[in-house]
Amino acid sequence: MKSLLIVYHTGGVKTATMAAAVERGARSAGEVNVVVKRCADAGPEDLLAADGLILGTPENFGYMAGMMKDFLERVFYACEGKVSGRPWALFVGAGQDGSGAVSSVERIVLGLRLKRVHDPVIGLKELTPEVLSNCEELGTAFAAGLALGVF
Ligand SMILES: Cc1cc2nc3c(=O)[nH]c(=O)nc-3n(C[C@H](O)[C@H](O)[C@H](O)COP(=O)(O)O)c2cc1C
Repeated sequence: MKSLLIVYHTGGVKTATMAAAVERGARSAGEVNVVVKRCADAGPEDLLAADGLILGTPENFGYMAGMMKDFLERVFYACEGKVSGRPWALFVGAGQDGSGAVSSVERIVLGLRLKRVHDPVIGLKELTPEVLSNCEELGTAFAAGLALGVF
C-alpha cells in the first residue's frame, strides 16, 4: 500500500484545522496509508518512507513558519536525490497574503525534485467551509492519485 505523509506546523488552530481536513479527505479515499506529523516530530526517515508528501504551514513575516523551515533543513541533504519525482502539494494558513509562504516552500522543495501535483490551497482570514472543502478535496485527490499510480 502506498504511503502519504502530511507534515504541518501551526502556531494556533488554523493550519491544524486545514491539516485535519486534508487528512479527512485523504483517509476517505482509502487504499493509502496516511501518516500525519507536526514539523517538530517529523524527520528524514518519514520522508524517505513516504510515496507522497503534503506540507502545511502558516505564513509568518512573508515566509513559511520557522518550524517548517527547520523541518526542510533537517530533511534536505538526507533526502536529496532519494525522493526525486515523488508527488507533493501544499496548504497555507495566512492572514491576508500567503504568497510568501508558497514561494519559499516551493523554492526549497524544487531542490528535492519533487513533482507538484496540486495547486496550493491558501486559507486567508477566517477559515470558510469552502477552504476546508478545498483542503478535503486536496487530500482526496492526492490519495486517490497515489493509490491509482497516476502521478
Ligand atoms: C508572527 C506572525 C507573522 C505573520 N505574518 C503574516 C504574513 O506575512 N502574511 C500573512 O498573510 N499573514 C501573516 N500572519 C498571520 C498568520 O499567517 C495567520 O494568522 C495564520 O492563520 C496563522 O495560522 P495558525 O493559526 O495555524 O498559526 C502572521 C502571524 C504571526 C503570528
